[in-house]
Amino acid sequence: MGDTNHPAAGVGLRGKIRRRLSSYARLRISETYLYSHDLAVIPTVPADPACLVRLLGIDELALLLEVHPLDLPGLRSRLERGFACYAAFLDGRIAGYGWAQPLGKHFLRDVARWREVRPKEFWIYHCRTAPWARGRRAYPFILMRMLEDYRRQGFERAWIYTGKTNVPSQKGIERAGFVLRERLPALEVGPLILPLPLRMLPPPAPTSPS
Ligand SMILES: CC(C)(COP(=O)(O)OP(=O)(O)OC[C@H]1O[C@@H](n2cnc3c(N)ncnc32)[C@H](O)[C@@H]1OP(=O)(O)O)[C@@H](O)C(=O)NCCC(=O)NCCS
Repeated sequence: MGDTNHPAAGVGLRGKIRRRLSSYARLRISETYLYSHDLAVIPTVPADPACLVRLLGIDELALLLEVHPLDLPGLRSRLERGFACYAAFLDGRIAGYGWAQPLGKHFLRDVARWREVRPKEFWIYHCRTAPWARGRRAYPFILMRMLEDYRRQGFERAWIYTGKTNVPSQKGIERAGFVLRERLPALEVGPLILPLPLRMLPPPAPTSPS
């Protein structure tokens, strides 16, 4: 048996294997909330009057680095594939961003699941507001703008998701009029993510004509 207290235990191949095994021993069940929006009624989000939302062009993507460290070549390829990046500006400074995927297959990384992007539907993901700008409604304002733009282009449904414990995100999503549709649990075993059977929620009750 090796001596785990020996300084050599943490280096080399044996150290690597030991660290990997101990990371696999960490088990956690996470849950992702999946919401949809039928684009029929898009609430007006009372945003900060200083907030402006617009699409970012491919030559402007470096602005996103002011919000969060990101892999720019990967983001460029998203725009080349037809995805869209919306950015919020507060007092002229980039405050946050969100991505829209209107085609292909969408990968929900936190629960290791793929979903087909169906015709006339799009997925919203990878949204963030810079810490200095939080609480000023930049996020729901970006969502509102995306919903309006895609509805104008003939889209009929949007999807978005967030973690069960991410209350700020859930509030922004609900403020923009999304409805919770599915709960997607996953088992995290160290760095591995294994999807667990999903929990469907009943479809929202139809709104009665007034
Ligand atoms: C989730 C997130 C995008 C919300 O952005 P935002 O522009 O601050 O959104 P809002 O202004 O609507 O605030 C939403 C909620 O954030 C919380 N909040 C407010 N000020 C905050 C602050 N300074 N810091 C953290 N959270 C704050 C509040 O709960 C607020 O809701 P309430 O005012 O109704 O109580 C942002 O917190 C963020 O970037 N988080 C890290 C990345 C992330 O979770 N992305 C979303 C994944 S789907």
